[in-house]
Amino acid sequence: MPRFRAPGRVNIIGEHTDYNDGFVLPFAIDKYVEVEIKPSDKYIFTSQMMNETISLEKFQKLGKWTDYIMGVVWAIEQEGYKTTPVQVNVFSNLPVGAGLSSSAALEIATAYGISEVFGLKLDKIKLVQIGVKAEREFVGVRCGVMDQFTAVFAKKDFAIFLDTSNLKYEYVPLNLNDFELALIDSNTKHELSSSEYNKRREECETVLKKLNKKSFRDISYDDLARLDPLLRKRARHVLDENKRVTLSVRALKNSEVFLLGSLLYESHVSLRDLYEVSCDETDFIVGFLRGELGILGARMVGGGFGGSVLVLARAGCIKGAFEELEKSYFERFGKKPTLIRINSNDGVHMVVE
Ligand code: GLA
Repeated sequence: MPRFRAPGRVNIIGEHTDYNDGFVLPFAIDKYVEVEIKPSDKYIFTSQMMNETISLEKFQKLGKWTDYIMGVVWAIEQEGYKTTPVQVNVFSNLPVGAGLSSSAALEIATAYGISEVFGLKLDKIKLVQIGVKAEREFVGVRCGVMDQFTAVFAKKDFAIFLDTSNLKYEYVPLNLNDFELALIDSNTKHELSSSEYNKRREECETVLKKLNKKSFRDISYDDLARLDPLLRKRARHVLDENKRVTLSVRALKNSEVFLLGSLLYESHVSLRDLYEVSCDETDFIVGFLRGELGILGARMVGGGFGGSVLVLARAGCIKGAFEELEKSYFERFGKKPTLIRINSNDGVHMVVE
């Protein structure tokens, strides 16, 4: 039986900009979610990772992993397409809660699979829209477009420089030569992640209202003086982060890895102090790595409040640094982080074993 495979993602830089008409620079990784799909007389969802089978007669939100699948089925129907109930078997090697967008991978694998199985011929942008709609309107997290876009459009050996204001994009070669990117999972997921995420969105909407602007792209640094201190911090992060994305694209194109590394550190500080979405664990990891030889840059990735740290290091240096970190992290938090090696990957596709 064919499987439909969608990858997780790492965002090099451009965090919390994708729902503010900003820039992002993600790539897909070689950890993914796969689904098998077949028409059925009721909805049956199985997950190898969760070791669970769930059977439902109708659309139902359960507050768990099945919502991402049900949300996609719901969104496809909302768009006017006809399907029948389905059985969806999920297989995954993508850690959940690590900030690597396992939810978007599950949504996109399901959307693509349903499109293929029912012959709906949904184009790439439609798949993205369906994934986003499922997450926003069914699951209830008012996400941006980055994760679903990456799960669909990613290309091995390239990052995607995406302008979320108009979905124009450019593939940027991931040429790091003697350097590499890796992840360190803090193995932490704080409960407030989705409520705080929605709160940041509301704060950004308030910024637009207060400044009487339609888009963050129309906001200048001079405008920030008209905001109260909290909103000024949020908006400042978005403006600075957008600049950092364009500088990072240039750095990547010119193989200026040291510049890229310092932009990663700056991004983390901004997410910690201005946008306030990091946490003690990821702050600790980034702070620790700053003092390690061969580490050029590091920052939290994804929505925040836990998850993973992206690390840019000279090839061969990450293992030693990680072993040092592991000890200190354990002393401080009573648990261990995980080193995750990553390679780039293609967007959603079908695999036949
Ligand atoms: C989550 C969301 C994305 C994006 C990031 C933060 O991963 O799903 O849309 O907003 O957080 O950059």
